[in-house]
Amino acid sequence: MARTAKQQRLLAELIRIADRQAPGTRLPAERELSDTLGVSRDTLRRVLKEAEKDGHVEIRQGAGIFIRPKPLSQKLRLMSFTEEMRQRGLTPSSEMLFNDMVQAAIKVARKLNVQPGAELFLLRRLRLADNSPVAIERVYLPRAIFPQLQTKQLASGSLYELLYEQYETLAHSARQSIEATVVTEEEAELLQIPPFSPALLVERTVSDEQGRTIEYAKSIYRADKYRFDVAVERSG
Ligand code: GLP
Repeated sequence: MARTAKQQRLLAELIRIADRQAPGTRLPAERELSDTLGVSRDTLRRVLKEAEKDGHVEIRQGAGIFIRPKPLSQKLRLMSFTEEMRQRGLTPSSEMLFNDMVQAAIKVARKLNVQPGAELFLLRRLRLADNSPVAIERVYLPRAIFPQLQTKQLASGSLYELLYEQYETLAHSARQSIEATVVTEEEAELLQIPPFSPALLVERTVSDEQGRTIEYAKSIYRADKYRFDVAVERSG
């Protein structure tokens, strides 16, 4: 069954709660949990079933909801920088380096499924965790989808939260590639590392629930500060 944006958000919140607990821990009772999350018990139950299906919790009738041991292979979840840092126990923040409208160059247009020359928001942000620089992100968003986007708010906040708040649009799925690179002198200065240090180049193309391409991003992560962890298993 397709998940609504609200359910998706609630599920993400539940997974966040589950991820902070040791396997086997019992979650608060349904009534308490629905109060904490500010949703009806009906909605909560529906989302709990989804969380169970995805292997995050186990619902034992009459006994409660328990955190499942982390599966060997956990789906790589699509997260924002903000979510990811919070999950690591760090405080995220940003510095805006560039924020303006640009016209789509051919390559970016292809990634975003727009015509070359289409209007895009281009944001370049330095992303920090506990006030120390981790990444430089260059993000392109089609203006046709987010005509009045208040990008100024992104000097400090989360892009994905803003897209949801202003347009009820969720970053739902993405294609992401990760490759090795070295930083330029300008990037080195921003990231506070020596010029030409190794770094990770992460490219992400994001779709919303309706399958529209809503973001194309190219980010450079400090290789000494950032690690991608992926669980894999032999299938079949
Ligand atoms: C990650 C992705 C970016 C995305 C960002 C949103 O860092 N690589 O493509 O724009 O998350 O993060 P936030 O919502 O914290 O601004």
